[in-house]
Amino acid sequence: MSRLVVVSNRVGVPDGRARAGGLEVAIRAALRRRGGLWFGWSGRVPENDPEPPKTITQDNTSYITVDLRKDDYEEFYNGFANRVLWPILHYRLDLAEFSRRDLGGYLRVNEFFARNLERFIKPDDVIWVHDYHLIPFAKALRDRGHKNRIGFFIHIPFPPPEILTALPNHERLIPALGHFDLVGFQTEVDATNFSRYLANECGLKRIGENRFAYDDRTIEIGVYPVGVETEAFARLARRAIDSTFVREVIESLSSRAMIIGVDRLDYTKGIAERMDAFERFLTNYPDWRGKVTYLQITPRSRSSIPEYVDMARRVSSAVGRINGAFGEASWTPVRYINKAHTRTALAGLYRAARAALVTPLRDGMNLVAKEYVAAQDREDPGVLILSRFAGAAKECAAALLVNPYDPEGVGAAIDRALSMPLAERRERNDHNYRVLVKNDITHWAERFLGDLEAPWRRDEETDRRAAFGARWH
Ligand code: F6P
Repeated sequence: MSRLVVVSNRVGVPDGRARAGGLEVAIRAALRRRGGLWFGWSGRVPENDPEPPKTITQDNTSYITVDLRKDDYEEFYNGFANRVLWPILHYRLDLAEFSRRDLGGYLRVNEFFARNLERFIKPDDVIWVHDYHLIPFAKALRDRGHKNRIGFFIHIPFPPPEILTALPNHERLIPALGHFDLVGFQTEVDATNFSRYLANECGLKRIGENRFAYDDRTIEIGVYPVGVETEAFARLARRAIDSTFVREVIESLSSRAMIIGVDRLDYTKGIAERMDAFERFLTNYPDWRGKVTYLQITPRSRSSIPEYVDMARRVSSAVGRINGAFGEASWTPVRYINKAHTRTALAGLYRAARAALVTPLRDGMNLVAKEYVAAQDREDPGVLILSRFAGAAKECAAALLVNPYDPEGVGAAIDRALSMPLAERRERNDHNYRVLVKNDITHWAERFLGDLEAPWRRDEETDRRAAFGARWH
């Protein structure tokens, strides 16, 4: 088997710190099994000149990280990746702030990563690149003469060409994906949007169901909904519910039901809209006042970007308004916390919560939804309230699916979740859990890497793409 080289902007260096992003959780789980090399940004932006790449080796994996210079960080990370690509790929043209300088910084950092990685790669390594920060990365490696199999997986949504073409210079950037051998998406919708882009905007010829001809190369497209370590997470939750931390939280609820939300502080997650829905719930279903506590754990993210500052303000003010209007001396309706929590703490809290609110306005997959399902006591499970605009809605079809833009509807779903009979809760959780056991993180990584390393195998298994997320009645 070839060595696996993973490249992503964030690297889950094993330092024991709590993390906020789904990407690190997924890649760490995938690498745990196979081992290899994980390359990317160190998370540091030193005042002086960046140091040479640093390597840490633990178990079967080497982590190699590079620092970014201040201007690279501003133009690549805060600029093009997170103020242009992030909003546009989440269908938020209204929030995109394009500048040519930032695009220059984005291309420069991709070059810089390729230059730094190349001394560590061997000709038969298989290279797996992750997410929107690294769209031109295969091109940067190919320009340097590397002929390895290189795959790309995008963890976030991919919008239709009608939206994507509003990105200035899209014709310079998006076709660079053609230098990957395999491009993977979370959902069929995302993959179809990309196929339409290739056909309509690049005039590429389709040479198979999931295949396009691109100069003398072939681009394969696939759908690989990212999973979680379903059974291991279930075991973790069973242990974590008895931890001192979780016990203290449960005691502090004084027998009230808990609803949980866990998201990075990001406008795509619909946290402010969710607060409005919770407020509507307390208004429309007054019997629940004093009987339920909503815990929202929201680590800060990309805090120097103005759109994030605005939304942080909006959420804080909604929390203050709800607690001021409905709270009692003995009851705070919303507990709002910006601290990141460990995986163990979250597993225990998920298990203790009667319902989870996962209501992004748009989300590639959303692993919180999947972990919540995995963490439940299957004899007495809580209820997942899930946005229909999260990729996870396909596999978790037995969740209460809601429109996050409809606060009345989400408020009604909260009431329904808290009142749901045990038999229905079990049936819904069982359905979702079984799907998630089948498509867990190992399966995700094996499918992607199998298709990348042995593309001919795909032709022999034509029905796999439709295998997940049977319809819920
Ligand atoms: O999963 C999407 C993603 O943007 C990842 O690429 C990223 O690592 C994670 O969310 C957290 O965001 P950031 O790295 O900007 O803190």
